[in-house]
Amino acid sequence: MHFSTISAVLGTLMVLGTTVQAQEPSNTPGCWVCPAEDRVNYPLTNTNYDASPFVCIYGDDDIFNCSFSSSTGVLVEDNNLGLCPAAAIENCSERRAIMRRRALPHAPAAPVPAAREVKPGLMHTRTRLGESKKRLHNHFD
Ligand SMILES: *[C@@H]1O[C@H](CO)[C@@H](O)[C@H](O)[C@H]1NC(C)=O
Ligand SMILES: *[C@@H]1O[C@H](CO)[C@@H](O)[C@H](O)[C@H]1NC(C)=O
Repeated sequence: MHFSTISAVLGTLMVLGTTVQAQEPSNTPGCWVCPAEDRVNYPLTNTNYDASPFVCIYGDDDIFNCSFSSSTGVLVEDNNLGLCPAAAIENCSERRAIMRRRALPHAPAAPVPAAREVKPGLMHTRTRLGESKKRLHNHFD
């Protein structure tokens, strides 16, 4: 009797826990930044935060891009063979830094974090992924 009451309480708590985790990410406006990689680990190479939804470009070719809602961070348009992450990353300090750099009148273009972090060993992988993406793209044309 006592045990089943505890089980019921625990069960209820577990259901509540699941509900909390399943909630949509908070929609604090203005804190969404491009994921550093797409779903096949192809690195972010360019961004356009002036656009809304904002655009994240993966690979050397602008045609592979993902656009995300500036207010909710969810994927709006996948121009990346279905390989866009489902949502942008919420990071207010990074987003503020991006906007500060952009606001400086004569500042050079903001460096893309992922581009700085590219390791020499990644070049081969990037080339291979780029080629398989192009093949896929041709396949879909
Ligand atoms: C995103 O991709 C689409 C389709 O390839 C292209 O038409 C568009 O110009 C791209 N956007 C940017 C900002 O590069
Ligand atoms: C947010 O971005 C900053 C700067 O790129 C980084 O140092 C920090 O680890 C990020 N925070 C999270 C929670 O990803």
